[in-house]
Amino acid sequence: MADLGLLEQLRREPDVEAPDLVAVDATDRLLLDEAAELLAAAGPGGVAVVDDSYGALTLGAVAAGSHDVRVHQDLLVGELALARNAERTGLSGTHRSLPLGAGLADGVRLVLAKAPKSLDALRELTEVVASSAAPDVTLLVGGRVKHMTHAMNDVLAVGFGEVHATLARQKSRVLVARGPRPGVASTFPRRQEHRDLGLVVCAHGAAFAGTRVDAGTRALLAALPRMAPDARTALDLGCGTGVLATSLALARPGLTVLAGDQSAAAVASAVQTAAANGVADRVRVVRDDAGSSVPDASVDLVVCNPPFHLGAAVVTGAADRLFAAAARVLRPGGELWCVYNNRLPHRAALRRLVGPTQVAASDRRFTVTVSAKDP
Ligand SMILES: C[S@@+](CC[C@H](N)C(=O)[O-])C[C@H]1O[C@@H](n2cnc3c(N)ncnc32)[C@H](O)[C@@H]1O
Repeated sequence: MADLGLLEQLRREPDVEAPDLVAVDATDRLLLDEAAELLAAAGPGGVAVVDDSYGALTLGAVAAGSHDVRVHQDLLVGELALARNAERTGLSGTHRSLPLGAGLADGVRLVLAKAPKSLDALRELTEVVASSAAPDVTLLVGGRVKHMTHAMNDVLAVGFGEVHATLARQKSRVLVARGPRPGVASTFPRRQEHRDLGLVVCAHGAAFAGTRVDAGTRALLAALPRMAPDARTALDLGCGTGVLATSLALARPGLTVLAGDQSAAAVASAVQTAAANGVADRVRVVRDDAGSSVPDASVDLVVCNPPFHLGAAVVTGAADRLFAAAARVLRPGGELWCVYNNRLPHRAALRRLVGPTQVAASDRRFTVTVSAKDP
């Protein structure tokens, strides 16, 4: 069984804490239990962890005897929570955070992963592990049964000769992949040219919309010529692959553009997208939570296509955090341009959190708004 004493000390902070929100879930516990014998056998430096939510997998592995655990977490909040939990439990210095690439899985014999949300993210993980881990590696991918599909087995089977699922426990299940196929190589970041937009988009597996340009993003792009004409600095808040940031830089040679996202895949993709379009010198990409590294009242224009799905539930709280961040970083009189699905009640929040908000465009699915930062 997983070390309950250790797991019970873990917290979610700096993510939201609430009585019904847990730092360690049934999938973490199942993964650690399925991995118990493999953890004991993996040897020093033999374990990697991917998308640990708050540190349960990494610190659980350490408690089971693993040393120098290599970790990649797409979300910044997970990385920060793991660091705090390591400190809280006296286990600082027992793991290393790394990008998703060969350095993460090179020679490892066991990989514990929370199932990513998209198949492309699972594909990138599969390619990284199959191409760089030890030949006897076991990849364990755990998730909630309701979020797991047969397509996930098919993706894993591209990289591994043996793929099977464990029995479900407390509505969680683990996919087990062994026998990396020879000749597998990473196909990420992927690249697609959009001639209609005059843009090349680069994307890692976990980045929103991949190399496609989302319909909401297109609606916001169409309004680009009307955005704050005198702006000298702009921020693409929640930049994903950097489509908006790069398009702004291409359209306005005098503009300095910042792009920020909490996702490692998004940040890596946005850096590549800016470079592929020749504007890397004017698009600075940062990984932060809701623009936290951007000074107050320092930006003339913010563009934002906020997240609207968290798992299967529609969540407005995540969007509200970005609107509040836009209000903080905008100079008085600056503009926030936003796009959202017509079903969402964002206009009232924009008025409340930023300032007077007009509908600049709308169609069957999307509304584009412009909010002026109150002086
Ligand atoms: C709907 S996607 C839009 C991506 C991109 N702007 C586009 O239009 O293609 C929303 C993005 O916001 C990011 N995001 C969500 N919450 C965030 C937060 N608190 N801080 C930074 N980025 C966040 C997500 O990682 C995701 O890349």
